Amino acid sequence: MRLSPVLLASGALLAHAATTSLDGISALVQRQIPQHADSFTFSLIDGDGDSFEISDASGGGISVQCTTVSACARGLYTYVTQYGGVDIWWTGSRLSQLSSTLPKVGTPVNGTAIVPYRYHFNTVTFDYTAAFWDWDQWEAELDWLALRGVNLPLAWVGYEYTLTEVLQEVGLTDEDISSFLSGSAFQAWNRFGNIQGSWGGPLPTQWIDDQYALQQQIVARMYELGMTPVLPAFTGFVPRALAQVYPNASIVNGSQWSGFPDDLTDVSFLEPWDSLFTTMQTSFINKQQAAFGSNVTHIYTLDQYNENDPYSGDTGYLASISNSTFTALRAADPEAVWMMQGWLFFSDESFWTDDRVSAYLGGVSGNDSMIVLDLYSEAQPQWERTNSYYGKQWVWCELHDYGGNMGMEGNLPVLVANPISALAASPNMKGIGLTMEGQEGNEIVYDILLDQAWSSTSINITSYVEAWVARRYTVSSLPAAAQTAWSIFSTTVYSNSDSNTQATIKSILELEPSTSGLTDRTGHHPTEIPYDTNTTIVPALQNLVEAASENAALLDVPEFIYDVVDTTRQLLANRFIDAYNALVSAYSAGGPASAIAAAGQPLLTILSDLDTLLWANDNFLLPTWISAARSLAGSNTTYASYLEYNARNQITLWGPDGEINDYASKQWAGLVGTYYYQRWETFVGYLANITASGEAYDSDALSSQMLAIGETWDAETWNSETDVTGDAMSIVAGLMQKYI
Ligand SMILES: *[C@@H]1O[C@H](CO)[C@@H](O)[C@H](O)[C@H]1NC(C)=O
Ligand SMILES: *[C@@H]1O[C@H](CO)[C@@H](O)[C@H](O)[C@H]1NC(C)=O
Ligand SMILES: *[C@@H]1O[C@H](CO)[C@@H](O)[C@H](O)[C@H]1NC(C)=O
Ligand SMILES: *[C@@H]1O[C@H](CO)[C@@H](O)[C@H](O)[C@H]1NC(C)=O
Ligand SMILES: *[C@@H]1O[C@H](CO)[C@@H](O)[C@H](O)[C@H]1NC(C)=O
Ligand SMILES: *[C@@H]1O[C@H](CO)[C@@H](O)[C@H](O)[C@H]1NC(C)=O
Ligand SMILES: *[C@@H]1O[C@H](CO)[C@@H](O)[C@H](O)[C@H]1NC(C)=O
Ligand SMILES: *[C@@H]1O[C@H](CO)[C@@H](O)[C@H](O)[C@H]1NC(C)=O
Ligand SMILES: *[C@@H]1O[C@H](CO)[C@@H](O)[C@H](O)[C@H]1NC(C)=O
Ligand SMILES: *[C@@H]1O[C@H](CO)[C@@H](O)[C@H](O)[C@H]1NC(C)=O
Repeated sequence: MRLSPVLLASGALLAHAATTSLDGISALVQRQIPQHADSFTFSLIDGDGDSFEISDASGGGISVQCTTVSACARGLYTYVTQYGGVDIWWTGSRLSQLSSTLPKVGTPVNGTAIVPYRYHFNTVTFDYTAAFWDWDQWEAELDWLALRGVNLPLAWVGYEYTLTEVLQEVGLTDEDISSFLSGSAFQAWNRFGNIQGSWGGPLPTQWIDDQYALQQQIVARMYELGMTPVLPAFTGFVPRALAQVYPNASIVNGSQWSGFPDDLTDVSFLEPWDSLFTTMQTSFINKQQAAFGSNVTHIYTLDQYNENDPYSGDTGYLASISNSTFTALRAADPEAVWMMQGWLFFSDESFWTDDRVSAYLGGVSGNDSMIVLDLYSEAQPQWERTNSYYGKQWVWCELHDYGGNMGMEGNLPVLVANPISALAASPNMKGIGLTMEGQEGNEIVYDILLDQAWSSTSINITSYVEAWVARRYTVSSLPAAAQTAWSIFSTTVYSNSDSNTQATIKSILELEPSTSGLTDRTGHHPTEIPYDTNTTIVPALQNLVEAASENAALLDVPEFIYDVVDTTRQLLANRFIDAYNALVSAYSAGGPASAIAAAGQPLLTILSDLDTLLWANDNFLLPTWISAARSLAGSNTTYASYLEYNARNQITLWGPDGEINDYASKQWAGLVGTYYYQRWETFVGYLANITASGEAYDSDALSSQMLAIGETWDAETWNSETDVTGDAMSIVAGLMQKYI
């Protein structure tokens, strides 16, 4: 579909002055394809929306004509993937493998984005995935995004710097502020007003300063790559002390979140009709504009009620809140557009009745003044029941993943069909994007959606997957077995239409052990496996291994090794369920204790085998996460230990006392071998002991024991292996013998 000029001319639709300089694209080529630095010629031409045309340049090389810088990057991507046969992945860029003689395009090819916004990130991705990223990782991520045509990324890094200045300005002390800010791995929920304060030590000033410096690089690069960064604004969430400094200010308590104790939640909220709110908003936006430029963006992320109940459910109250919030935002930036995550309309659907949604969104005048992210469109879309957000702009988003959990899962048929039908049904749908909580694994389900944003008809999954596999495994004469493996994946694991098991499936080995409640969970955080492992994971793995035996060049392809390890990981995780069920049966049968210990052994063997497997690939290592955190501290070991605690606590207890225990669990080498292993070993020992002594099963006592293990583990320092150990393919061969 070509966007009509009328639509694009309608004022603030894009609400930014994206760069028209092509320097960022030239620099991208320099970084990613240095040997072809002079082979690509980009030129901006007039035209509507985001379009490109790639053709053979008269003097050799490739010409990319484009209407926006973002479209230039997408044009380059189309060339390198469709003609050059290479791509950039989460596991690393392979663009430098583009052949020295560039393949010809032949008949020029056009591409057009079907929506003005291609969006990326969830507020929580900044913690689950990017908490400890350095500039190198950001740079790789931004190139990945630019090439895929993303033009509207969220940019939350370093928020606390500007916020702190504003809070100081209104009279709060450093102590007041420090008691409000949350830890380095938990900032998203402080920004959402879910939590306040920290555990494991206050947020160091150095963190605040360094993150702010990082954000300067991030925002500048986003702009240079033709993107409009979505920047933060003042939300209204404030330290409790503000109420003492301003006894007459309209401050209400937020709500309790996820079992956190009072001092860490119930965040104070300054109601936006208070003149102090406007003062703080204006100051915040002014400072941010001074730092990043006043025209870099006019789109602001601002969430007030994400898993946070409004003080009142009265529709008049809700309309006043949004109206005053936007009034203050526009006072600070007359071109401001308010972007919000729409998760609340699903997660708290019983509160957010149609009347309340209508009141809250309707409080803001003008359809272009807001952008609502329909956060979980692939499984729980809310745009239909909310009458397309009553006319506000909205974005069709794929959530897919909770907490960076790693189970293989996806639903390709929905990703290619539903955005297209939604666009036809809802003219105010203005974007397509990714709002994954954690950006880990299952890369194909993210790729296909960002590609769908450039195709007005539904992508053909079969041919898409074939082309995707061919460029993922960049070898000449790719064995058919590799395609067979992915044909199995794409039609089973990645065609999951079971509404009980959507988003990433969690493996029970990552959960706190118990005799009940682990298996067959459905809904939010399912553990039920919606496919038969023996006819899906098993033959897919066999085909991958077969492909490697036919063409050993595959062994040098990092993405291939990643996929083999990931598939084997899933095999073992699924086999663990059978072993667990056998243990519970042995315990229910009443023992003897020796039989329980024996039934427990296979679980421990799987965990230790899984740990060995994961050690063989650098994408699956706990020490990578920990050393990324520690390295941000330079030589300051006190600071490094603080960061390590934050890194460990997020993926285990998530809170000082396991408040959302195991939410962000991972199957990482080191975590499986030390933490999960220890918990399951203790559990098996406990079941054997109570069977021998005749004591009753005491789930509270068991939980206390598990919490103690978590607290100890979180406080430790990683002193062992940090590097890849073992040969993945031979380890996989051994595990296939054992588990197939
Ligand atoms: C795309 O194709 C049309 C003709 O088919 C052409 O006029 C146009 O300039 C091309 N390029 C872009 C960037 O739209
Ligand atoms: C708060 O309001 C009370 C009653 O209206 C007034 O007497 C008092 O001066 C106000 N205090 C401040 C700090 O504005
Ligand atoms: C907010 O919560 C704090 C701590 O629970 C309490 O002390 C305070 O009175 C509450 N404030 C209001 C306005 O309810
Ligand atoms: C920002 O953009 C507007 C409209 O494009 C322009 O008038 C203004 O001069 C720009 N301001 C700065 C500081 O570049
Ligand atoms: C606030 O509400 C009033 C009354 O509906 C409306 O005229 C005004 O435009 C709204 N303000 C904003 C900033 O949306
Ligand atoms: C906003 O969108 C709604 C729903 O599509 C429509 O009824 C209304 O006329 C639009 N308002 C404006 C000002 O365009
Ligand atoms: C999709 O592509 C496959 C492989 O190229 C082809 O066999 C099939 O007919 C296509 N399906 C549709 C609906 O076009
Ligand atoms: C090291 O880090 C700690 C905790 O952030 C901080 O209090 C201390 O001042 C730092 N020491 C140096 C020498 O920077
Ligand atoms: C099991 O009992 C033994 C012997 O009393 C004890 O040492 C061990 O800690 C117990 N294990 C668990 C997990 O309770
Ligand atoms: C799957 O394969 C395993 C290993 O061969 C076997 O033990 C198990 O019974 C099979 N499960 C099903 C459901 O066929």
